[in-house]
Amino acid sequence: IFLMFSGLFATVAAQDKIVLGFSQVGAESEWRTANTESIKNAVANDPRIELKFSDAQQKQQNQIKAIRSFIAQGVDVISFSPVVQTGWTTVLEEAKAAGIPVVLTDRKVDSDESLYVTLVGSDFVEEGRKAGAWLAQAMNGQANIVELQGTVGSAPAIDRKAGFEQIIQHFPNLKIIRTQSGDFTRSKGKEVMESFLKAEGENIDALFSHNDDMAIGAIQAIEEYGLKPGEDIKIVSIDGVRGAFEAMIQGKLNCTVECNPLLGPQLVEIVKGVVDGKEFPKYIPVKENIYVQSQAKEVFSERKY
Ligand code: AHR
Repeated sequence: IFLMFSGLFATVAAQDKIVLGFSQVGAESEWRTANTESIKNAVANDPRIELKFSDAQQKQQNQIKAIRSFIAQGVDVISFSPVVQTGWTTVLEEAKAAGIPVVLTDRKVDSDESLYVTLVGSDFVEEGRKAGAWLAQAMNGQANIVELQGTVGSAPAIDRKAGFEQIIQHFPNLKIIRTQSGDFTRSKGKEVMESFLKAEGENIDALFSHNDDMAIGAIQAIEEYGLKPGEDIKIVSIDGVRGAFEAMIQGKLNCTVECNPLLGPQLVEIVKGVVDGKEFPKYIPVKENIYVQSQAKEVFSERKY
């Protein structure tokens, strides 16, 4: 009898769980790996939530497919970090029609605000501004800059570029001489930096990379070309992952602007709140810092990602 009842309770408890369907961008960077881990750990530590996780391999059509499958399965809440900014309205309307609330993490969408509950994530424009301000000061307002952009059409690529340009436009001798997407990956970052070096060679004074992984790829390209990253070419990038701190300790990267991927605990609280009928503002920002080479050694051991 005891076994029968405990089985029954287990079924009821399982039915009571909030089912969260999460569609992740992919595994393109150290940042993304930390973000995925943070979400999985936070859910694993919360007895109220069950996670259905799907990896979109950096393709919007895979995310749309995953979201449609979450709708078909009747999950309680859908969350995703959109690969690109546009093209979400139809699928968000489908979720709304099915009565499933959507929580955005990390990146925004261009769709109407009424189609999602909230966005928890970084201020990418501000990150771009911080990178621009650091570079303007480090180069005394004078440099030929090459720029490695993130995934074309993604919120961080659009906003970081805009923020960076907002600052450097005040310095007539800071010029972006080449700009191209490296899709947020190390391998593409290296490949594109090789092409920049082939075209511009020692004419390049500085690199602005939209994330650390592309900067790390570019560092390899610069070394293979025979120049010293961090000295011959000053480098500022964004994320603040451990790989960036290692590069700073080696003197190869000059500055990283933090973009915090540890969104899991906040997401779990929001998901439970949504189910419990709580109200949320449309945007929930994440606190972030900026780190330069001279701080790298001291701060490294405290880094969580
Ligand atoms: O959306 C956040 C960005 O996506 C991170 O800066 C980058 O590393 C990741 O791939």
